[in-house]
Amino acid sequence: MASRSSRCAPPRGSCLAAVLAVAAAALAGAAAPFLPGAAAAEAGGPDWHAVSARSLRPSTACTPAEGASNSSALKVVHRHGPCSPLRSRGAAPPSPIEILRRNRDRATSMLRKIAGAAAATNAARASKGAHLPAHWATATLGTNNYVVTVGLGTPARYFTVEFDTGSDLSWVQCEPCKDCYEQRDPLFDPAKSPTFSTVPCGARECRELPSQTCSPDNRCRFECAYADGSQTDGDLARDTLTLTPSDAIRGFVFGCGHRNSGFFGTEDGLLGLGRKSVSLSSQAAGRYGPGFSYCLPSLSSGTGYLALGVGGGAPANAQFTPMVPSRALPSLYFLRLTGIKVAGRAVKVPAASMLIDSGTQLTSLPDGTFAALWSAFARLMAGRYRRAPGLSFLDTCYNFTGHAALQVPSVALVFAGGATVSLDVSGVLVKLGSDEPDVACLAFTSTGDDAPAGILGSQQQKTFAVVYDVANQRVGFGAKGCA
Ligand SMILES: *[C@@H]1O[C@H](CO)[C@@H](O)[C@H](O)[C@H]1NC(C)=O
Ligand SMILES: *[C@@H]1O[C@H](CO)[C@@H](O)[C@H](O)[C@H]1NC(C)=O
Repeated sequence: MASRSSRCAPPRGSCLAAVLAVAAAALAGAAAPFLPGAAAAEAGGPDWHAVSARSLRPSTACTPAEGASNSSALKVVHRHGPCSPLRSRGAAPPSPIEILRRNRDRATSMLRKIAGAAAATNAARASKGAHLPAHWATATLGTNNYVVTVGLGTPARYFTVEFDTGSDLSWVQCEPCKDCYEQRDPLFDPAKSPTFSTVPCGARECRELPSQTCSPDNRCRFECAYADGSQTDGDLARDTLTLTPSDAIRGFVFGCGHRNSGFFGTEDGLLGLGRKSVSLSSQAAGRYGPGFSYCLPSLSSGTGYLALGVGGGAPANAQFTPMVPSRALPSLYFLRLTGIKVAGRAVKVPAASMLIDSGTQLTSLPDGTFAALWSAFARLMAGRYRRAPGLSFLDTCYNFTGHAALQVPSVALVFAGGATVSLDVSGVLVKLGSDEPDVACLAFTSTGDDAPAGILGSQQQKTFAVVYDVANQRVGFGAKGCA
């Protein structure tokens, strides 16, 4: 689906000296060539992944994590995987290529949003004192690969929603519905929940919404416009949010959407985990402490978790890097990428600002950074494996027919402060489609332009406990957070 809205999509490319001052460095230098000696590196050892070709393939049966979540953690499942309640009975899930293509739309709209904010900040600077636009439309919905199930109201009704680190306001589709897309579960009906109330216009939560209006009877009306033209509007409301049977947040503020149009997908709504005060994590901070963590499973047939608060829960092995706040995009979490290692050897890349996003699948690197990673990786794979024709927009693909055991160079992302995140093999190679059983592709893309920032996508976050330690303004990555 192409992005239709122009609300947050000014022309790209005019944003180099922008709001994300840190991003400027990303554009300063072209990629340096990979060091010649590295090509001779022997496969094997700690800097290579030794995996069986089969292990890249998800199972058709749900294989939940063992001994998982003992706390208030929610179970995270892949939207289209065998553990997902959204998976329609009988109907085949979209192909991995189709899923990737939809995710690409999310990446494109996020990159436009960042470029748009950068351009607007530049314009505001140039005209001294001009104000930034109050808000930017959020990215596309329904492309996020990961969903959780939560209860809303009294008694709790259960809804399967995507969780999104790229937006703040949570919402579900509500009765009475003037315009609703088809969802799997019955709509939330406020009339059946005695703990439900609408939020009046004067309330702080209402005033803090970027786009709100007031009804004649003083109800706060919200509106969310997404970059692909989808939108939802309705009443800002409060009700009990049930996370686990023993854990509920009373008076949780969310959007009760009475008109929802343009979405595709069958999820019941969204949980916002952005940085602003209306997000679930901000609202829950009083109870669990600021921040949250999640782990995305390596295969779509596995399960992970989403937990509120950080508490003592940061894994001992977590590598932390500072959050880089953005004034123009206050909902979003940015990090600073300072280096890349391939098979343990540093590849020379300029520093780059990276949006960390739960809703974009493949990491998008600024062009020069991608080129440097690509050339180092392709050089080490060459001679070992045959190239396969590109699939969709991925063009660095390998044919592993006849190789039961693979040796794949490790890829580590190095962030400001020295946090070195050595990716799981699922963050290095992505397996596409059962029609091409032995083909997998380098799991990165380039931003395709002089973008002011890249995106750290969910594919590269897999298996890490990703800890958003808001109190200390840092993000941590703990290896082996889930399988
Ligand atoms: C639950 O997990 C936490 C940390 O993840 C651990 O400290 C605690 O002992 C666990 N509790 C139980 C009952 O297993
Ligand atoms: C992979 O290699 C095998 C054996 O050479 C060949 O039969 C097959 O067509 C190749 N597949 C692709 C997608 O290149």
